Amino acid sequence: MSPRALRLDALKDAERDVAEAALAARERAYAPYSRFRVGAAIRAADGTVFVGCNVENASYGATVCAERNAVGNAVAAGRREFDLLAIATGTRPPTPPCGLCRQVLAEFAPRLRILLVNDRGEVVRTRLDRLLPMAFTKAHL
Ligand code: THU
Repeated sequence: MSPRALRLDALKDAERDVAEAALAARERAYAPYSRFRVGAAIRAADGTVFVGCNVENASYGATVCAERNAVGNAVAAGRREFDLLAIATGTRPPTPPCGLCRQVLAEFAPRLRILLVNDRGEVVRTRLDRLLPMAFTKAHL
């Protein structure tokens, strides 16, 4: 665990709710090929939380990560501003988002706060601008 490791039960209620939503979404992951189950929950500026899980496919490249499914659900519901993301896995330490998901998240929230959580209740706090410094965004177009 990194020095920023926390416990789920030490989080404030509002953050714990998002982390728990990600853990619950992980239970619904469709990952028969990798068996690596991921859940994500993203909180919109109005407080609504949208979840996603990884959805794999027999054509492996068609797999979509949990984080991108959560963002897609939120955008389809009309939300484009986000302040917190939780990503749930079963690893120690909790797993950070893949590069493709970092880029998709940066489209909407370049400084997004992120909680990496695992099924033991361990939490690592980070933020997107740490995970994807000098991101390419629409500001460069
Ligand atoms: N996965 C995610 O859902 N999010 C990530 O950020 C990393 C990878 C999924 C994709 C695939 O279903 C499985 O984890 C193994 O790569």
